[in-house]
Amino acid sequence: MRKLSTLTILVAGPLVALAFISAPGVSAELPENAYMADGKALFLENSCDKCHSVTAKGVEAQKKNHGDLSKVAEDADFLTKYLKKEVEKETKGEMKKHKKKWKGSDGDLKAIIGWLKS
Ligand code: HEC
Repeated sequence: MRKLSTLTILVAGPLVALAFISAPGVSAELPENAYMADGKALFLENSCDKCHSVTAKGVEAQKKNHGDLSKVAEDADFLTKYLKKEVEKETKGEMKKHKKKWKGSDGDLKAIIGWLKS
């Protein structure tokens, strides 16, 4: 019995410690997926749905649909710059900046893009 409990502590100890380290909210930095839950809310809050649907995620465009964002090919870095109007993207054969300049925080933008790419 004594041997068994020592063994249990030896095995369970590191496992418990590991569980704490990987538990959300315990680590100092937010894990990538902590932003995801907010992505959709932020997308709607920032009226992105005025011009875009994301049908794959249950979002319909409120006004004119300028493009469904269910499948966005560009990577997150490009999209960050594009939405800040720092770079242009080919749109119907023309190089154009995004229609609306992002004025929110970097964290919120990251959450929206992360959600779109998820
Ligand atoms: C006033 C209308 C309008 C609003 C509001 C708007 N967009 Fe756009 N967006 C456009 C237009 C027009 C394009 C270019 C369409 C294209 O690439 O064919 C575009 C393109 C994009 C693209 C690139 C699509 C692709 O296929 O690569 C992304 C991503 C995007 N918008 C995200 C957003 C996000 C996120 C928001 C909210 C912060 C937003 N848009 C708000 C009009 C708008």
